[in-house]
Amino acid sequence: MKGKLIVFEGIDGSGKTTQMQILGRRLERQGFPVVYTREPGGTRVGESIRGILLDPLYREMEPQTEALLYAAARAQHVAQLLQPALAAGKVVLCDRFLGSSLAYQGFGRGLSLEFIDHINNLATGGLKPDLVLIFDLSPCLCLKRIGAQVNELDRLEREEMAFHRRVREGYLTLARREPACCRVIDGRQTVEQVHETVWREVERFLREANAGNK
Ligand SMILES: Nc1ncnc2c1ncn2[C@@H]1O[C@H](COP(=O)(O)OP(=O)(O)O)[C@@H](O)[C@H]1O
Ligand SMILES: [Mg+2]
Repeated sequence: MKGKLIVFEGIDGSGKTTQMQILGRRLERQGFPVVYTREPGGTRVGESIRGILLDPLYREMEPQTEALLYAAARAQHVAQLLQPALAAGKVVLCDRFLGSSLAYQGFGRGLSLEFIDHINNLATGGLKPDLVLIFDLSPCLCLKRIGAQVNELDRLEREEMAFHRRVREGYLTLARREPACCRVIDGRQTVEQVHETVWREVERFLREANAGNK
């Protein structure tokens, strides 16, 4: 079997990292060679760019700058880690990928989707994920899981909620745009229930990929 790129998408607190770890362990128990990685990051250069992106010091960062930095980290990730791992037949589990750029920089910050697609095509050389799992959960519930109370939010944090609602809509739009590879997963259930849904999707995907010898 050729390598497979399985991507975990969704807003912060939607369960991506939790589900990626559980799925990875199950795949490993079944003998699949699993590689875990994340964006922005996954490489030395990418992790440094991640530091710039997440540092609250850079309040003045323009949305275009932000989008280009994500794409720059992605270019390094694709060349240094993703392509080699996929060529070696690994199942790569990636915490965030292209979908995050469309949802956050496109729908969240309002950059044109053409711009996002364009710079990311340059970054990936056309590499697309094989399967995108989108964990769908309201921003309210996500915040609760991360530990905040909605009624304690200040003005800026409430704006943040509106931002996350746009991002969530962005993900759902992406899922409609690319139904062949995207699966929207209801993130409201327990960790175990969500995992069973993920497993059903991944098992079916791997079986079909294997049958088609892709
Ligand atoms: N299905 C779930 N039900 C309740 N809590 C969850 C569920 N999935 C994850 N969590 C908890 O919610 C928080 C955010 O989950 P995490 O996997 O880190 O999300 P993400 O990586 O998308 O930000 C963590 O504290 C995690 O333990
Ligand atoms: Mg996470």
